[in-house]
Amino acid sequence: MPDISLGDISLHVVDRGRGQSLLLVHGFPLDHSMWQRQIDELAADFRVIAPDLRGFGQSGVTAGTVTMEQMADDLAGMLDSLGVAEPVALCGLSMGGYVGWQFALRYRNRLAKLIQCDTRAVADSPEAAAGRLKTAERVLVDGAQVVAESMLGKLFAEATARQQPAVVEATRQVMLRTAPVGIAAALRGMSERPDVSGRLAEFDMPALIVCGEHDAIAAPAEMRGIAEQMPQAKFALINDAGHMAPLEQPAAVNAEIRAFLAS
Ligand code: MLT
Repeated sequence: MPDISLGDISLHVVDRGRGQSLLLVHGFPLDHSMWQRQIDELAADFRVIAPDLRGFGQSGVTAGTVTMEQMADDLAGMLDSLGVAEPVALCGLSMGGYVGWQFALRYRNRLAKLIQCDTRAVADSPEAAAGRLKTAERVLVDGAQVVAESMLGKLFAEATARQQPAVVEATRQVMLRTAPVGIAAALRGMSERPDVSGRLAEFDMPALIVCGEHDAIAAPAEMRGIAEQMPQAKFALINDAGHMAPLEQPAAVNAEIRAFLAS
């Protein structure tokens, strides 16, 4: 798949299948490969578009701060380059969900449906934001292992860690391959992301809110509350999964996505 040039950077993107476009937006500090089971199984029925966001995977890296708004703009530019004119279904996980909120606010007419997995609507608290800025500095000095070590234990349900160690190890390897400059830029961007918790009624498109029952970062009760405040949202709890529900329980998540896209 050729990379997409966006002027200041290029984005690596997997683009497979035909039909309704399903845009998959990965979490932090990962890349499109976290969606491999969705790409493999859903590309039979949909055009599945799974980019590496700016600073991640095989995409270009920019220093400083990369905001969620910038990433949303990158996605719109990428869709233009791919010739996708019709509204897409966007499915984001965690940081990909933060980008999803911004895409919905900035490009409402390009969005047919929104799927938000294991993500939050609130902004960082001042303490959390300060912690992210400190981590950004540490990553630049000590490398990607700083976030791999601090995050990996929080991402997966205990059963996943026990029964699917290869999934956990593959995720660690993706993190370790990620450019420290890209990690730091996204940490700064997440630290200043807008709070959309008071604006959930504005996300009036059909929506599916997906959450792993053991998610330690975006708790099920919080995500159920998000769904309740959105005019057209359905909540789906994924059993035996943590924060990485699509990776941990792909069959269950894919079934939810399929049913939602068919509705
Ligand atoms: C993610 O999975 O993308 C992160 O947990 C997002 C975050 O750090 O807030």
